[in-house]
Amino acid sequence: MRILVTGGAGFIGSNFIRYWLFKYPNYEVVNLDKLTYAGNLENLKEVQDYPNYTFVKGDICDQQLVDDIIKSVDVIVHFAAESHVDRSITDSSAFVKTNIIGTLTLLNSALKHKVKRFHHISTDEVFGSLTLDTDEKFSETSCYKPNNPYSASKASSDHFVRAFARTYGLPITITNCSNNYGPYQFPEKFVPLMITNLLEDKPVPIYGDGQYARDWLYVEDHCRAIDLVLKKGRLGETYLIGGMNDTITNLDLAKLVIKLMGKSEDLITFVKDRPGHDVRYAVDWSKINKELGWKPKVDLKQGLKQTIDWYIKNRDWWQKIKSGEYQDYYKKQYQT
Ligand code: NAD
Ligand code: DAU
Repeated sequence: MRILVTGGAGFIGSNFIRYWLFKYPNYEVVNLDKLTYAGNLENLKEVQDYPNYTFVKGDICDQQLVDDIIKSVDVIVHFAAESHVDRSITDSSAFVKTNIIGTLTLLNSALKHKVKRFHHISTDEVFGSLTLDTDEKFSETSCYKPNNPYSASKASSDHFVRAFARTYGLPITITNCSNNYGPYQFPEKFVPLMITNLLEDKPVPIYGDGQYARDWLYVEDHCRAIDLVLKKGRLGETYLIGGMNDTITNLDLAKLVIKLMGKSEDLITFVKDRPGHDVRYAVDWSKINKELGWKPKVDLKQGLKQTIDWYIKNRDWWQKIKSGEYQDYYKKQYQT
């Protein structure tokens, strides 16, 4: 089997490629990635010389290139996206191009070349925001109510994927997952931003009062879920994927990370809030549990310890990122 992974040089895509090649050494993987600021081939050093792994630098919006690749693949696992909410608030144009037009480009080609499966990676953010005072969770029947340009673009891509199944019979599956964390996550996202700042004894910026809650999913648990959906998922279906623990507020998460790293809570700094900030995400993952037997294996404390340990051991990886254009981004975003 030959699979095309789009966005395989990013955080989740690179974790997935490693997971897949270690588990299935006989499958071929083609990684199509534009190498935007978030794409990093160092994430794939361990597998770059595998004879069954190929990297192609390119844009998922390039129909000719996409056609050339897709004509010889069986399965597509589509991760490529602009993924950071704050950047989408500053400028949403790249989000529309990659997340919507890019997905449509892949869908057209998948249909033309009769791929056996188009698996679309999406997010729980498409369902909008829950309040802090309920136990309500998102499920496969929740309504789409995206609140920021990133989630609006992901919602649009989900609709196109579903429409291609209904209209043309394209064999698709969709997964919508909660906030991932783990090794190789770009340090603009909350968890690696906190860890790397703390390793340098720099402040941990908390948006608003920190009373926003997320459902944290260890990236390897996410990769196992995608594997199961590819193997046993029902065509045309959506599966939600979430973490092991109940949701935790950003302030409590920051305190937990600080405690695990032996640092001082004095480093917590409250900064200007994100406009349109979704209050709470929480995922009911009972469908994938009942149908495919998946459940998360890594609890938040254990996952954070593993992640902190990885960032301690891989200083070169994140220091290189943080010394580049990241500094301009950070100054603008945090007005430092
Ligand atoms: P990321 O930003 O770390 O990686 C995205 C990758 O896509 C990068 O390697 C980038 O170079 C590549 N890319 C961007 N535009 C491209 C284009 N036009 N053509 C080809 N490649 C392009 O993202 P991530 O956090 O790994 O997220 C992967 C997917 O999972 C995304 O679709 C995202 O919406 C979804 N998701 C992420 C999370 C999370 O917590 N990180 C949670 C739910 C869903
Ligand atoms: O829910 C899934 C989504 O999770 C994915 O679809 C997105 O791709 C991914 O980026 C993530 O979105 P969030 O906006 O929830 O993640 P982020 O890491 O940016 O922020 C997590 C929470 O922490 C959020 O409430 C904002 C807050 N935050 C974030 C940063 C970067 C801070 O308080 N301070 C910060 O500096």
